[in-house]
Amino acid sequence: MNDYLADLFSLDGRTAVVTGGSSGIGRGIATALARAGAATVIVARGEARIEATVKELAEAGCRAAGVVGDLSTRDGIRATAEAAAEPFGEPDILVNSAGINIRPPYAEITEADWDATMTVNALAPFLLGQRFARGMAERGYGRLIHISSQQAHRAFVGSGVYGASKGAVESLMRSEAEAWGGTGVTSNTLVPGFVLTPLNARLQEDKAQIAALAARTMIGRNGLPEDFAAAAVFLAGAGSAYITGHSLFVDGGLSVH
Ligand SMILES: NC(=O)c1ccc[n+]([C@@H]2O[C@H](COP(=O)([O-])OP(=O)(O)OC[C@H]3O[C@@H](n4cnc5c(N)ncnc54)[C@H](OP(=O)(O)O)[C@@H]3O)[C@@H](O)[C@H]2O)c1
Repeated sequence: MNDYLADLFSLDGRTAVVTGGSSGIGRGIATALARAGAATVIVARGEARIEATVKELAEAGCRAAGVVGDLSTRDGIRATAEAAAEPFGEPDILVNSAGINIRPPYAEITEADWDATMTVNALAPFLLGQRFARGMAERGYGRLIHISSQQAHRAFVGSGVYGASKGAVESLMRSEAEAWGGTGVTSNTLVPGFVLTPLNARLQEDKAQIAALAARTMIGRNGLPEDFAAAAVFLAGAGSAYITGHSLFVDGGLSVH
């Protein structure tokens, strides 16, 4: 990479924490940040997928470490935050990709479904941001990156509580952008369309619906985790310093309709 591109995009010397970095979009983003130079911590519950991701990154010459953590309770979120700062120190970049989407028919959604969804999808990004952004501001550099959804903007394949949680994430991003403005800390959101990941494995069994979703994009296909690589590196790097509170749609044009 020449010096000009390095100043804009290199993550050499940076540290990153990626929740949900062991699968799907999070894994795609963790791989991108690590390959761009960031020492990257992968956070999730399942040890096997964490280890496989860390091994793949190490074999590619990257600095990567795994942390087993459960973001489904307040105590779990707090403990995970402390553990995530262990391998490489306090992070410069936080990517909140861990998320769940339970899809009961709307009338059957329970309070437990609401609590479970809101805790992983919205409370964890809030508490992790609270934990890490203060230090980022003191050091004069920080990147908070959220992953929301079409459902933050429109009803879409059974939004339910999930859509409400993703609406919260985008509002949280705006609050963070406002709160940390002028400190070197930015907060932005990547908005996926329909991305082929384990999250929607059940939906993917319906080939006709998958094809219909691909046809609704401008590009003509559904998303893949690697489609998020360049956007994540951009939002994590020095070159995006003047961009905050922004929702960047990485959706093949799905939302243009
Ligand atoms: N795929 C799509 O079409 C799509 C569209 C819009 C938005 N999104 C959003 O993109 C993000 C990533 O989704 P994805 O499709 O990549 O999903 P995925 O492949 O299912 O990955 C989810 C990740 O989150 C982790 N995770 C789940 N619950 C957790 C918990 N309680 N504590 C810690 N980690 C947890 C999972 O690991 P463990 O299970 O091992 O914990 C996994 O690493 C989510 O926020 C999702 O809402 C996805």
